[in-house]
Amino acid sequence: MTEEWSHEVTATHGEAPPFDTSVAHVARVYNYWLGGKDYFAADRAAGEQAIKAFPNIVLSARANRAFLARAVRFLAGEAGIRQFLDIGTGIPSANNTHEVAQAVAPESRIVYVDNDPIVLTHARALLTGNSAGATDYIDADLREPEQILAGAAELLDYGRPVAVMLMAILQHLHEEDDPYQVVATLIDAMPPGSYLALSHPAKDIDADAMAKMAESLNKMMAEKVTFRDRPAVARFFDGLELVEPGMVQASKWRPANEDEAASPAALWAGVARKR
Ligand SMILES: C[S@@+](CC[C@H](N)C(=O)[O-])C[C@H]1O[C@@H](n2cnc3c(N)ncnc32)[C@H](O)[C@@H]1O
Repeated sequence: MTEEWSHEVTATHGEAPPFDTSVAHVARVYNYWLGGKDYFAADRAAGEQAIKAFPNIVLSARANRAFLARAVRFLAGEAGIRQFLDIGTGIPSANNTHEVAQAVAPESRIVYVDNDPIVLTHARALLTGNSAGATDYIDADLREPEQILAGAAELLDYGRPVAVMLMAILQHLHEEDDPYQVVATLIDAMPPGSYLALSHPAKDIDADAMAKMAESLNKMMAEKVTFRDRPAVARFFDGLELVEPGMVQASKWRPANEDEAASPAALWAGVARKR
């Protein structure tokens, strides 16, 4: 992406970006919370309103990224996974999936999927895998899992285990989108020994503040949110074998140090194996 429209401050002076900047979008709001530079005034306003409702959202977003890195390190390391399907990639940040996986196993193959045009403009940055491994990017919607599976088959071999990653994305699928069926369709296409790794904003951690934040985001952001409680998130893992410590608050999933463990993350998170 070019510098002219890569930041809200310069957005109005440089050339127009190829997407609507007047409405907040989750990829850019999340980038704002993470301290990035790829957001516009509407995203910052939505991000700030959310911070007012739930001041821990910034720590929570960071805790989610830390969980992502730990989960990928586990998958590429202990679990021996070499293929990753990361749906809801987001704008590149620290510890992108291919960087973490290929640091452990250079031959790792990663397919990224997102439906936001701004993430697509960053795809080049995500496609810098090393020569031993490979990365690909698909511009697709999670609500059409068959399309994702068909596209990812260009790089991934479904005869070998795949880690399906759904990090902080399922809250954008509502009951009418049949989210459990969407996840089942993805996992059904994978062989035994595959994994599902996911995180999901919690309706029942810091419940009052989370309800206020959901209300605020749903007024200001294009992608609406449905936060879920523990049993509703656990249902995504039905039929799979959760690895230790099971589905827990994101900061409590194998934290690397005391600071990570102490983060007030309002997310449920887990990693599970398909038998
Ligand atoms: C909160 S960000 C999470 C980014 C990253 N997975 C992480 O955990 O750090 C959610 C991402 O999901 C994407 N997303 C939301 N709904 C989607 C859908 N229906 N299909 C594909 N991507 C979607 C957004 O564009 C955004 O980049």
